[in-house]
Amino acid sequence: MTTRPSKRRKRRVVVTAGPTHEHVDPVRYLGNESSGKMGFELARAAAARGDSVVLIAGPVHQETPKGVKRVDVVSARDMLAATREAFERADVLIMAAAVADWRPKRRRAGKWREKDSGAEEATLELVKNPDILATLGRRKGDRLIVGFALETGGGRRRALAKMQRKNTDYIVLNDASALRADASTVLILGCDGSEVRLENRSKREIARRLVRLERPVSG
Ligand code: CTP
Repeated sequence: MTTRPSKRRKRRVVVTAGPTHEHVDPVRYLGNESSGKMGFELARAAAARGDSVVLIAGPVHQETPKGVKRVDVVSARDMLAATREAFERADVLIMAAAVADWRPKRRRAGKWREKDSGAEEATLELVKNPDILATLGRRKGDRLIVGFALETGGGRRRALAKMQRKNTDYIVLNDASALRADASTVLILGCDGSEVRLENRSKREIARRLVRLERPVSG
């Protein structure tokens, strides 16, 4: 892992943050516990370095960092569209969002009224969401791409497989204790075999470290 000298070119950085909400009907959705904190800290850290930053945010309560262009989205498909567009002009993509893997097969126009039938059980049909990171990883070019992995136990091997499958330069592995927390322990795995562990650091500190990542030198 290397850092650039102080005089550096302004990079165009795209960061995704927060959860996605996958609506069942106008008032209900499938979501997850992501607060968006890590992604917002990444956007803040990149902007503070002088990078031009587009932050694509799922539904979160976070203040937009100074100098950051924020695009709000709701679902994974919205996030794919917004990220794909920003990616075209980007040098760096950091996918910190906790994108829902599944969405309801159909979004009802009115409220889902399954209970009116008196049934004690109901089934929701789900379909797979697009994998944003894998989709854009296929068009990587010479961009730097950083993905995240959230594992509930170890997970280093799965994270390495993820890096390969999604064609990223780095995967940041953290565990579920990071959700909603201010601090976290992460393992930054590089496609060059590098490994850096940051133990119990604030998300701000981790973000500052991550925005300094460079494309690993192959070979
Ligand atoms: N990701 C994505 N699109 C999805 C799902 C995930 O772009 N539909 C991205 C996330 O933003 C993250 C990485 O892929 O950078 C995480 O991959 P994922 O396979 O969801 O792994 P985990 O979050 O670790 O969870 P699991 O493997 O248990 O699904």
